[in-house]
Amino acid sequence: DESEFDTGGTFVESLVSPFLIASNDRINSEDEWPVIKHDDFTKEYDIPVISLSEILQKPEDDEMYKNVCRIMVAAAHKWGFFKLVDHGVASEIVDDIKICLNEFFNLSMEKKMNGSRNGSLPLGYSASNLDYERNLPWAEILQLLQSPQQVVEFSKRVYGDDHHLSLSNAIIKYMKAQEELGRIILKMLAHGLGLTSDFFTRNLTEKEAVMIRVNRYPPCPLPEKCLGLGSHSDPHTLTILLQDEIGGLQVLKDDDQWFGIRPVPNSFIVNIGDTLEAWTNGRLKSVVHRAVLNKESHRLSIAYFISPASTTVIESPPELVDSEPNPRKYASFTWGEFRKELLMQKRVVGKTALDRY
Ligand code: SIN
Ligand code: FE2
Repeated sequence: DESEFDTGGTFVESLVSPFLIASNDRINSEDEWPVIKHDDFTKEYDIPVISLSEILQKPEDDEMYKNVCRIMVAAAHKWGFFKLVDHGVASEIVDDIKICLNEFFNLSMEKKMNGSRNGSLPLGYSASNLDYERNLPWAEILQLLQSPQQVVEFSKRVYGDDHHLSLSNAIIKYMKAQEELGRIILKMLAHGLGLTSDFFTRNLTEKEAVMIRVNRYPPCPLPEKCLGLGSHSDPHTLTILLQDEIGGLQVLKDDDQWFGIRPVPNSFIVNIGDTLEAWTNGRLKSVVHRAVLNKESHRLSIAYFISPASTTVIESPPELVDSEPNPRKYASFTWGEFRKELLMQKRVVGKTALDRY
C-alpha cells in the first residue's frame, strides 16, 4: 500500500534502520581503523567474475545456463559476493545515472537539502556533518524507494518542475533495469539450488521495500582513521552494487581479514543479504563489508536492494534442510518482522544481523 510511505511512519523508519544505526554510531574507534588502503587489492582474495553473455537468452534446460547457475551458487556460498559482467544492462543507463548523480552531489548544500527527507518524502538526501571529530561515517547519502512518484517528487524539489526530468528519468530507468537483472539473478540462484526458479521472485513486489541507496564519499583528510560506511551486512535478499573506478569496498573473510574488491569496468557487484542467507538455510552467505575512504577523490557507489513483500514468510524449503548434515539453522520470520527488529539493534562490528539458532 503506497500510502504507508507517505506518512513517514514506522514502516519507513525500519526500512532504513540498518543504515540509520550505522550512521548514528561512532565509527572511527581504533579497532575499526582500516589497515588496508582503498586501492589495495589482493589477487588471492578477489571474488569470482561471472559473465552472463552466453546465457541471457537461453532456456532453463540449456546446459550452459545450468552451469552458470551452479557457478553463481558456488560463489554466493563461498564468498557471498561476486562480480557480474555482460549483464545486459545498457551502458547508457549506467552512464546516465552516474552523470546525473554526480551533478546532484556537486550542487550546493542548500539545494541538496531541498531533497532531504520530510513529510511526503520519507527518504531522500542526508549527509553526516563532515567533521572528523564527530566520529560519523564520512558520506553523503541519497535513498529512494522504487516508486516513480517518489523519485519525481525528490527531483522536483531539487531542480524545480521544469528541470527535474534528467535526474528522475535516469533514476527510474536505472531501477527498472536493476529490477530485471535482480529477477534474473534470483532465478539463477533458485535454479542452481535445485528450487523452482521463481522461488525467491514470486513474492517480489515493486512497492513494498525495494530501494536504492547512493553513497558519495568525499575525499577524507584522515582515511586511515575513519570509514565511509561502517562494517555491516545487508539485511535484504540481494544487493546489486555499482561502484566507480576509485575502489573502497572491502569484504570480511574468515571473521578477521579484510580485503578490497577491485573495480572492474562495466560490472556490478552482487551480494547476498541476511534474508536470503536464512531463506537458503545458510547455503548462500551474507557477508560483512564496509567502505573505506581516500584523501584524493570523491567516490560514488549505488546499491539497489531487493526485498520480498513484508508478509512473506522466510523459511528454508525442505530441499535445503535435512537432519544431517544440514539441519534447519534459522527460525522462520517475515521480512516485516525482521525489519522491525533491525531498528532496535545496535551495530556490532563484524557481525551480521541474523539470529542463528
Ligand atoms: C554498501 O555496502 O552499501 C556500499 C559499499 C560501497 O560503497 O562500496
Ligand atoms: Fe552494504
